[in-house]
Amino acid sequence: MIGLHEEPKPLIAILTSHDKYKRFQGNRKNFRDIAKMGKDLDIPVFVVTSRDLKLSGNKVLGYAFIQEKKLWEEQWFPLPNVIYNRIPQRKAEERPAVRRKIESCLAHPDIHLFNPFFFNKWELFAWLRKSHSTKSFVPATKRLTGYKALSAMIRNYPNLYLKPESGKAGKGIMRLKYVENESNPLQLTIQSPRKIMVVKSSSLSEIWKRIRNEIGMTNYIVQEGIELVSHNGRQFDLRVLVQKNGKGQWLVTGIGARQAGHRRITTHVPQGGSVEDPEELLALVFGRELTSGMMNRVKSNALLIARQIERGSGHMLGEMSMDLGVDMEGKIWFFEANAKPMKFDEPHIRKKSLERIFQYSQYLVKQSYNS
Ligand SMILES: Nc1ncnc2c1ncn2[C@@H]1O[C@H](COP(=O)(O)OP(=O)(O)O)[C@@H](O)[C@H]1O
Ligand SMILES: [Mg+2]
Repeated sequence: MIGLHEEPKPLIAILTSHDKYKRFQGNRKNFRDIAKMGKDLDIPVFVVTSRDLKLSGNKVLGYAFIQEKKLWEEQWFPLPNVIYNRIPQRKAEERPAVRRKIESCLAHPDIHLFNPFFFNKWELFAWLRKSHSTKSFVPATKRLTGYKALSAMIRNYPNLYLKPESGKAGKGIMRLKYVENESNPLQLTIQSPRKIMVVKSSSLSEIWKRIRNEIGMTNYIVQEGIELVSHNGRQFDLRVLVQKNGKGQWLVTGIGARQAGHRRITTHVPQGGSVEDPEELLALVFGRELTSGMMNRVKSNALLIARQIERGSGHMLGEMSMDLGVDMEGKIWFFEANAKPMKFDEPHIRKKSLERIFQYSQYLVKQSYNS
């Protein structure tokens, strides 16, 4: 029984997928950091798989991190009142049984599940285009339905990005440029973690054949390429972590910069990119004086974007990360948002991000207690 004056406490379950060999999937280092923070804040937290999360009983089988032994121990827990969805794979989350389980958590009166689903790039753009406050951040984008879609886009934009609709970490991204006054003006760049390849041609149908080969059955979008700011010939963009605080309001937890590797078309670290300080890089391009104003603009725009994404998704979201680009005019562009943000390597962002998960969880249980 909860006493009248006692505030309810969160019991947080990190939701992930079952794994035959490792017991559960997901980034263990991340889960361990969350468990440690829970210990520091005296808020219990455990890992549960979608398979073991059964709402019908009054206890669930989960894993607690035992610090002294440095391992995850199977234990029974009461039904959690907060569920932090960290299912790592889209495929797993899309399985009907898992979807049903998430839906029943969402409908459960005593459970707050946040970030129920992965985002899809195409949907994100549609949501942001719906609002006056956010539509200018979205580069022109079409579904890559065929040759016609590509040829219409390259006529309007001499620089295009082709991206899988549900991609991550730069996998499968290509760039198509039309370079005037060249005998082979169409230049297609294909990158993989190990190499980078440029195919040149004067024929769009030839290029299209090549693209079709690369994409196979995957759904792709084709997007206006943005001339990102660069330093030492390597372009960079921003990773913004946006989370809700203990009052349920969106705040920017931190901003990082990622700079592309030499000749690379994306800024991902696995594709040769590096982690940089955003203020330092922006100051090198725009000068110190303009930089703080620009950082503030990035923050306020990121909040507008987060609110609009949450509205569009129709679900309760507690955090997201987003990839924002800045062009030479200082204009801010939206590339994507992630419902399952990766760990930020920057220690000050990392610490704050862990704290916010607990602050928001506290807010969630307080909410239902007061209502
Ligand atoms: N339209 C674009 N113009 C310029 N650069 C882009 C564009 N789209 C993506 N990029 C670059 O590629 C990176 C990855 O794009 P993103 O859409 O986030 O794909 P992924 O899901 O693989 O991370 C971005 O962070 C940016 O550096
Ligand atoms: Mg990205």
